[in-house]
Amino acid sequence: MSDRKKIIIFDTTLRDGEQSPGASMNIDEKLRIAAQLEKMNVDVIEAGFPIASQGDFEAVKRISQTIKGPQISGLARASDGDIDRAWEALQYAGDRGRIHTFIATSEIHMKYKLKMSEDEVVEAAVKAVKRAAGYTRNVEFSAEDAVRTRLPFLARVIEAVIEAGAKTVNIPDTVGYTIPSEYYDIIEYLKNNVPNIEQAVISVHCHNDLGLAVANSLAAVQAGARQVECTINGIGERAGNCSLEEVVMTLRTRQDILPFSTDVVTEHIYATSRLLTTVTGLQVQANKAVVGANAFAHEAGIHQHGVLMDKSTYEIMTPESIGLNQNKLVLGKHSGRHAFTMRLQDLGYSLSTEDIQKAFVRFKDLADMKKEIFDEDLDAIIADEIIRVPECYKLLQISVSSGSFAAPTATVQMEVDGEVVKRAEMGDGPVDATFKAIKALTGTDAHLLHFSVGAITGGTDAQGECTVRLEKDGREQLGQGAHSDIIVAAAKAYINALNKIVSIKKRTQVNI
Ligand code: KIV
Ligand code: ZN
Repeated sequence: MSDRKKIIIFDTTLRDGEQSPGASMNIDEKLRIAAQLEKMNVDVIEAGFPIASQGDFEAVKRISQTIKGPQISGLARASDGDIDRAWEALQYAGDRGRIHTFIATSEIHMKYKLKMSEDEVVEAAVKAVKRAAGYTRNVEFSAEDAVRTRLPFLARVIEAVIEAGAKTVNIPDTVGYTIPSEYYDIIEYLKNNVPNIEQAVISVHCHNDLGLAVANSLAAVQAGARQVECTINGIGERAGNCSLEEVVMTLRTRQDILPFSTDVVTEHIYATSRLLTTVTGLQVQANKAVVGANAFAHEAGIHQHGVLMDKSTYEIMTPESIGLNQNKLVLGKHSGRHAFTMRLQDLGYSLSTEDIQKAFVRFKDLADMKKEIFDEDLDAIIADEIIRVPECYKLLQISVSSGSFAAPTATVQMEVDGEVVKRAEMGDGPVDATFKAIKALTGTDAHLLHFSVGAITGGTDAQGECTVRLEKDGREQLGQGAHSDIIVAAAKAYINALNKIVSIKKRTQVNI
């Protein structure tokens, strides 16, 4: 048996990650991500914040009903209403359902946000944990802004909540303020000053405001923390959270000096990262550690030479260890359904026969226009056909005239709430005309913040991928669309963002 200490991987992509601007996901999208996290074998999936909205509640409930392996966590403030609602959604997971309750403990938060004294905060924390423990033994308590909390007070709160029944105690760096040595000392302080600390698992939850979330989490693990809270691609509030793939791959790569292990099947990391990008539209920067497009690319001649002689010269982990198969199988117009299905499976998609058929038809259409189909093209097809299910708005037809002579005009035909409608508009360019027509047909007053076009792969026959960022009532939403015609891709991206706005409008947010 291995004498490595197991680190519990608590994934909060669907809760804290979803708090990234523009990253809101609908229930089906959350279920897809949860299924992928289950495949990757994370220990805990934080599925949402049930009292925040009906949408969040439904997502936590459906994930609790569907996902069988990992524990399912639901967030709740330290109040009866939040805790009752969390359990209402989590109960279907049985013993695997975890109530995660929190209250802030730093002076700044207590004074300005909560307007509560230290005694009142301890009382509220204990009451919340006891109420949660009435539903399940699986209770986690978080001392929000722990890092800026007076240490003797933090120790007092942690001792009290363990006494009340918390089995996991989380010490978040809510504002990404700490540095590794300080965080190490905080965890060590709690180990030495909380008499019942051995009765609970110490968890860490780091934000990345100073780019230190992963380093801080690892320092805490070295000091005795046994659970790391993290997100895929490091998405999350502001600068994001600790990135799951970075922390897990560090633990795997540096086994020589880190005597820890996780149960994550790292070979699913790459597919999970791509799925999240597809669902949210939040692109991963090319030089992002582990999953960025350049993470395994060797540019300098001297590096390429070294890698050809022996990979270990410049590669500290293999692309295969994260499921990145570099021998990309390129598909073309003669590829059959079997090769297509196998490639989708390799990329981590588990689709129903009906969805494979839909994607296959679209693949054949694309293959008629484009010589070689790459993995990125397949991602775009799956995103467009399967994942981004059209909701109340659907693009049917579009025709555009433009050039240096006549005023650019777009004629768009759409389905709006089941009704077929058509409109022509002129604009400053073909994209502007298209967006004007869609705006008029849908009657939206959303404001366009950003529009960008990229080619999914190289070559003039490449598919164009458009990203649109819209703002409505102070909330931002990303939309994506892909097509070999970039005007069609732009229209799809705009409509995708509008559909997301509609589905999110049904959700009333509670401020954390
Ligand atoms: O950052 C934070 O403090 C949180 C808590 C709710 C755990 O997300
Ligand atoms: Zn957080």
